Amino acid sequence: NSAAAIRCSLRRPDYIPNRIPDPKYVRIFDTTLRDGEQSPGATMTTKEKLYIARQLARLGVDIIEAGFPASSDADFDAVKLIAREVGDADSDHIPVICGLARCNKRDIEKAWEAVKYAKKPRIHTFIATSEIHMKYKLKMTPEQVIDKARSMVAYARSLGCNDVEFSPEDAGRSDREFLYRILGEVINAGATTLNIPDTVGYTLPTEFGQLIADIKANTNGIENVIISTHCQNDLGLSTANTLAGAHAGARQLEVTINGIGERAGNASLEEVVMALKCRGDQLLDGLYTGINTQHIIMASKMVEEYSGLRVQPHKAIVGANAFAHESGIHQDGMLKHKNTYEIISPEDIGLLRSNESGIVLGKLSASTLFFGDVVQLGYDIDGKELDDLFARFKAVAGNKKTITDDDLIALVSDEVFQS
Ligand code: KIV
Repeated sequence: NSAAAIRCSLRRPDYIPNRIPDPKYVRIFDTTLRDGEQSPGATMTTKEKLYIARQLARLGVDIIEAGFPASSDADFDAVKLIAREVGDADSDHIPVICGLARCNKRDIEKAWEAVKYAKKPRIHTFIATSEIHMKYKLKMTPEQVIDKARSMVAYARSLGCNDVEFSPEDAGRSDREFLYRILGEVINAGATTLNIPDTVGYTLPTEFGQLIADIKANTNGIENVIISTHCQNDLGLSTANTLAGAHAGARQLEVTINGIGERAGNASLEEVVMALKCRGDQLLDGLYTGINTQHIIMASKMVEEYSGLRVQPHKAIVGANAFAHESGIHQDGMLKHKNTYEIISPEDIGLLRSNESGIVLGKLSASTLFFGDVVQLGYDIDGKELDDLFARFKAVAGNKKTITDDDLIALVSDEVFQS
């Protein structure tokens, strides 16, 4: 399984904005730093966002939506910093850095100003297309909405951005014929990815899959762009809807770490990616991603720590109980053969299994591993700061049987934020 994860990242096709050379490859677009940060109380500092962006790059996400630059100076600064530091890094995998913009010139200019430092910059612009949104929120006619969408996509392209994503907000409740028209118009204007948001998490998996299939069948020029999904979780269906979208032809999936996001959140990266890894061969047309799943647990812990949003113990993949076997019957089965009760191995997401106590987070017995884990966490600590941290680590380690990733993050966070 671990080998499979590595093979996936090695198989990542070249990045061409509007085309994927391998039809089985699915791009992972992470919006933890934009939609995720819109969760109530989840505001993160610029430094925290940078650490998360580095971890997302390590994880192998294809696109990082780093923020909404026009929304505040702080967001603008964070997106710009991430574009420079992560989007222009000297590394094997450089993700696309994306900034969100409403369909107006100021938002689009701000987004471009922030992302243009990345090697692969993208502007993501959106406008609502459902009747209820157009009438009550935008107070615009459908024709005015089409005109705005078309002209603002063209404007984004005219600034020099050759990678422009367009989202018809509330697509899940929009009129189909209107969707086909507006999507055809923005393709003509230069959009490279069309993202289909189920903004209020209203659709059922069969419906959402059909929506993607219908858009694919009825939109002029659709063969020249990538179709994407963005599923909110209001009915707890975001992962199922996202997978239905992929099955129907979407080749970019928008997700967040731990599923954080507006209201009930978004489809979670770890669920979508592990479902593709676990069942992609049999039931999902052999689809695969470029995610190195062994970095999942660290990404989850960082987002939990920085956003302050605790992961529920029974959360799929990353919850504390996700690999815990409590009942006697289950424990007996596990001792006889691990696959009796485990469809994913904890090692696949970066956890280690100890012989006595089930799972331990971390592999921190030696100092070299300790340094490696600090780097893996996304921290830039060296010299005296690192020596001090190691001294404190040893003091804590002396008092505890095992040092967990949570302990390590707490230690490192204190060190970083005290300095
Ligand atoms: O939920 C939504 O519709 C969005 C769009 C901006 C993609 O977040």
